Amino acid sequence: MKILIINGPNLNLLGVREPDVYGSETLSDIENWLNEQPETDGHSITWFQSNHEGEIIDQLHSAIKEVDGILINPGAFTHYSYAIRDAVTSIGVPTVEVHLSNIYQREEFRKISVLKDVCIGQFSGKGKNGYLEALRLLIRK
Ligand code: DQA
Repeated sequence: MKILIINGPNLNLLGVREPDVYGSETLSDIENWLNEQPETDGHSITWFQSNHEGEIIDQLHSAIKEVDGILINPGAFTHYSYAIRDAVTSIGVPTVEVHLSNIYQREEFRKISVLKDVCIGQFSGKGKNGYLEALRLLIRK
C-alpha cells in the first residue's frame, strides 16, 4: 500500500514544544521509529509536514488515485479547518486522524474535531503509538 502521513502546524517543533504535553522526541524520531516497525514492511510511506493550511490541502489533493491511505495529525487545524475537512471528504482516500496528546482532556476548544466524522478512525492520547495504531487500521482496510 501507499500511505501518506501528514503532520500539520507546529509539529515540526516536537522535542522543543511543550515537552510535558508532547514528549521529548522530535518528529524525525517518530518518523524513524515508525519506519522501523514491522507493520511498515512492504508498504511505501511518505511523510509530509507543513505549517500552512493550503499546502496540506494541496498534499491531500495530490493523493487522489495515488495513495491508498492517509494518516493525518492536523495539529490545531483539527479544531476549525472546514477546508481540510472538505479536502478529506473530496479525495475519497481512507484517512485516520491522530493526536499525540489526549484532546479530550485538555482545553475545551480542543475537544472538537471537525475532521473526526470524515475519518475512518481517530487515535488521541497514545503518543507515537497512535501513529502505529492508525497505520495498522489503514493496512487492515
Ligand atoms: C495535537 C493536538 C492539537 O490540539 C494541537 O493543536 C497540536 C497537536 C496533538 O498531536 O496532540 O498541534 O494535534
